[in-house]
Amino acid sequence: MSYQTIKLEFNSKTAVVSINRPDKLNALNSNVMSELEHCFTELKKNDDVCVVILTGSGEKAFVAGADISELNKLNMIAAKDYAEKGQALFNLIENMNKPVIAVVNGFALGGGCELALSCHIRLASENAKFGQPEVNLGLIPGYGGTQRLTRLVNSGRAMELIITGDIIDAGEALRLGLVNKVYPLADLLNKAYEMADKIASKSQYAVKQAVKAINICKEVSGSEGLSFEASLFSLCCGTDDFKEGTSAFLEKRKPSFKNK
Ligand code: COA
Repeated sequence: MSYQTIKLEFNSKTAVVSINRPDKLNALNSNVMSELEHCFTELKKNDDVCVVILTGSGEKAFVAGADISELNKLNMIAAKDYAEKGQALFNLIENMNKPVIAVVNGFALGGGCELALSCHIRLASENAKFGQPEVNLGLIPGYGGTQRLTRLVNSGRAMELIITGDIIDAGEALRLGLVNKVYPLADLLNKAYEMADKIASKSQYAVKQAVKAINICKEVSGSEGLSFEASLFSLCCGTDDFKEGTSAFLEKRKPSFKNK
């Protein structure tokens, strides 16, 4: 399928999805949301892809939020549907069966910050800016921000960001643990490719189980989480990759994973 508002490219085993409305700072309108939904559904089924990079086109924005011209038309009934559809897409991203790296190359505001939060890892450029400025629009985050931001940074900092609408720079986002790493904009995509290639060189079965085990954390109690971890650990031990990884260590050579 050819997309109008996003771009899909491939770099080795990495799919690169770029939101492509740079003149509107990549704001999320309903076309972007439905194309992202289609694209991530297809990528989930694509076994040739080990990692997905999600970024914004241009040098100014990752995503500057939900499209305010669409928000402006919402009534109460439509708004519930709007938030739930967005949440379903962001859940799809969070529950992808391969790691998703947000490459935050500028503004990540409102829905853009929430989109980055739904990814597994966040790499940012030095010029990136983060915030949940919905209170300035008479709103609160509706695509999971109150939940994911609170889990990722502490609840006091999430509260401060959401109820002041303050915008923070990449350095502050790094200090808060909101992003994993910060790079100069010119290096950002290559650093993301390096990380993606490193992940793609591991046992993909093990990587997938790790993503599942970490994601389940927010859904279940500590003891249920440990039990789930033990089950996934044991499944890994049934793979050829486990035999290969452990044998390669003992034989002092590099493992060659077949992903079986
Ligand atoms: N929805 C719709 N359009 C948006 C948008 C959004 N969230 N964010 C930016 N745009 C559009 C602007 O309307 C403008 O379009 P125009 O050229 O047709 O007028 C274009 O993108 C460029 O934005 P502009 O505001 O001129 O850039 P700037 O550098 O002066 O300011 C921001 C950048 C990000 C500070 C500013 O665009 C902004 O505050 N955006 C809204 C952020 C927000 O509240 N997001 C949360 C939404 S839930």
